[in-house]
Amino acid sequence: NPPKLQVGESSLLKLANCRSKGGAPGFKVAVLGAAGGIGQPLAMLMKMNPLVSVLHLYDVVNAPGVTADISHMNTGAVVRGFLGQQQLENALTGMDLVIIPAGVPRKPGMTRDDLFNINAGIVRTLCEGIAKCCPDAIVNVISNPVNSTVPIAAEVFKKAGTYNPKRLLGVTTLDVVRANTFVAEVLGIDPREVNVPVVGGHAGVTILPLLSQVKPPCSFTYEEISYLTDRIQNGGTEVVEAKAGAGSATLSMAYAASKFADACLRGLRGDADVVECSFVASQVTELPFFATKVRLGRSGAEEIFPLGPLNESERVGLEKAKKELAGSIQKGVSFITK
Ligand code: NAD
Ligand code: LMR
Repeated sequence: NPPKLQVGESSLLKLANCRSKGGAPGFKVAVLGAAGGIGQPLAMLMKMNPLVSVLHLYDVVNAPGVTADISHMNTGAVVRGFLGQQQLENALTGMDLVIIPAGVPRKPGMTRDDLFNINAGIVRTLCEGIAKCCPDAIVNVISNPVNSTVPIAAEVFKKAGTYNPKRLLGVTTLDVVRANTFVAEVLGIDPREVNVPVVGGHAGVTILPLLSQVKPPCSFTYEEISYLTDRIQNGGTEVVEAKAGAGSATLSMAYAASKFADACLRGLRGDADVVECSFVASQVTELPFFATKVRLGRSGAEEIFPLGPLNESERVGLEKAKKELAGSIQKGVSFITK
């Protein structure tokens, strides 16, 4: 019998380094909450991303199982698993990008804000680890309520003296993904050809699709605008109700998170014109955080685009969104500063 081939981690790392030297950059990415409904498919998609050379999978349960499973995929990234709080620092050290889908999801009848009491503390602990071990990493916050967890992360980083607003990005890509899908259905065209800017935040009326700025240019009836706005704002609830107690969007979210993470990595690599919507520190409105289109580059969100021309119903929607957002942002800030 030929000896069983044992390829150790060091050999894999050498390979990953060779690839980097050969011109293909390799980034180190951590997924925190990697054993969850979003975490598992997101980890798989990141393992398939050629820009990733090292993938760290952290969770408080089942990280070794998910890691063993994903590590058998014959793609380039070296995968390592980390289980429990005592391994958080090792999971984070040296990371270029940290993606956070850790935390509890909604059940029918709940708002995203109902998750605050549990998820706020989880995000605080994870961000304290990031401030200590990889303060220069780009951070993608998925855990809900995003309208509050991003301000929480910002305050943790400020307290630690590591805050760089360009590097902290709330993930609202699923709203854009949904908007593109639903608009394409109404127009009867391929969803990959549609681009709908979705601004504001990531909960109910704070999700503001700018249907007057859809690409390719098109026009909608009053009924279509009202149907699309309602469906985009309540897309999350549609999935929560369909799953009937088994959680919220995981697969479409993993797709959206992987799309956004890939854009962040292309920005880090120095690609030009990488533009996505994201909930970031912003001066576009009077609020300290707001989701708009941002240009991603080597230092994160390098340019924040203005809202552009809004029609009357979008202006009304904007006022409603800002009112709710102001409270959610303040709630997050007070969680750390009080
Ligand atoms: P899930 O319960 O399936 O998975 C969450 C994972 O987080 C679990 O594996 C759990 O063990 C882990 N976890 C809990 N505490 C942790 C900690 N302290 N450190 C590390 N990991 C921890 O939930 P899910 O469906 O994957 O959703 C996760 C979060 O993402 C929820 O808050 C949900 O509301 C949110 N979400 C956001 C969006 C968005 O568009 N931003 C979309 C969908 C879901
Ligand atoms: C979503 O938009 O699907 C997520 O924010 C999860 C949820 O609770 O709706």
